Amino acid sequence: MDVPLGSGGAGEGKLSPDSEPPFLVLEHPDTRFGATHVTQDVSLSVARSEILALLGPSGSGKTTVLRTVAGFETPDSGRVVADDEDVTDVPPERRRFGVVFQNYALFPHMTVGENVAFGLESQGVKKKEVREAVARALASVDLSGFESRPVTQISGGQQQRVALARALAPEPRILLLDEPLSNLDPSLRGRTRRELKRIIRSIGITTLFVTHEQEEAFELGDRVALLNGGRLEQVGTPRELYAAPATRFAASFIGRSSVLPATWQKSTGRARLPGGAAWPAIAPWDLLDGSPVDVIVRPEALAFGGPRDGAALEGRVTDVRYAGKETYFSVALADGAELEVLAAPDAAQPGWKVFVAPLPAGPAPRAYPRESAG
Ligand SMILES: Nc1ncnc2c1ncn2[C@@H]1O[C@H](COP(=O)(O)OP(=O)(O)O)[C@@H](O)[C@H]1O
Ligand SMILES: [Mg+2]
Repeated sequence: MDVPLGSGGAGEGKLSPDSEPPFLVLEHPDTRFGATHVTQDVSLSVARSEILALLGPSGSGKTTVLRTVAGFETPDSGRVVADDEDVTDVPPERRRFGVVFQNYALFPHMTVGENVAFGLESQGVKKKEVREAVARALASVDLSGFESRPVTQISGGQQQRVALARALAPEPRILLLDEPLSNLDPSLRGRTRRELKRIIRSIGITTLFVTHEQEEAFELGDRVALLNGGRLEQVGTPRELYAAPATRFAASFIGRSSVLPATWQKSTGRARLPGGAAWPAIAPWDLLDGSPVDVIVRPEALAFGGPRDGAALEGRVTDVRYAGKETYFSVALADGAELEVLAAPDAAQPGWKVFVAPLPAGPAPRAYPRESAG
């Protein structure tokens, strides 16, 4: 099996491109609940000061991975290493990791300052030092002077930053965030996301950031680890995941794409589509000649053309979704398959008969072994 182009390869946590040794390593951990295998061999490494986004659909095991790193779950096998120290058997409170959980659970009857101080006081830190640490943590999240405000009287975005300040106050060496923006209104999320990124960057802390939203992962993550069904699909930069998805799941989960059934022609490196057109396609694995494949193609890789183009597929425009400078056109093909084309707003109209072909300069269609039904 060849290693896919420009990617870390399926199921393999690649080190960051620079040669610095990783600061946080999760080495082949398996985590089970009873007989159920929840995560399998999710190996990750995060470089010092890097933000690694752990992305995956709901139930894919993201929280379990984060809790395993934090020490709230004990893996059946494997290790967690931070700054060259094996912390696998170190209890969570002694790992010096800051954690912000999904529902960041501020204490509603306490002030901002009391919330941020909570962890420090329970560690027996002296009053004066607690006060200084709280002030430093609040300053780092742009909430200086908010100490005596009740947490119920600040905005959702500010509450999110208080939760972050609480995690940062003990000066952790690693920051772990589980969907920290999911409690916020959609209208607040974008701005808070950018603030969060700026704060993490200015502190320079090594961060593992869990989210089920691609946009969040792509904006915050230096690299993104894509999880599906408790297994790693791919680890890479946002650009690598978009342009060279290592697996069929990565290709369809990341960005917009259409899936077309086809047959692989090994000698030409083309996928033969129903109706006879053959599209040049990149196969991340060595596929057998004549094997059934799914061709996955981005809307911006397709264009309307003429019937004489040998690569053209004939179809009918069924829907139009205006998106500013360009428009998404849904096209139903004769055999029932559907695809999406990104083109100028006046390129076609609903009901039109059209021919669609891949653009030579676009992101190449990719061929993956056909998934059996179900
Ligand atoms: N304490 C637990 N006991 C049993 N199953 C669990 C437990 N926690 C999570 N799971 C299961 O593990 C899988 C992954 O869950 P989770 O890590 O929370 O995923 P995510 O955070 O990606 O939504 C799910 O199928 C979930 O039902
Ligand atoms: Mg979760």
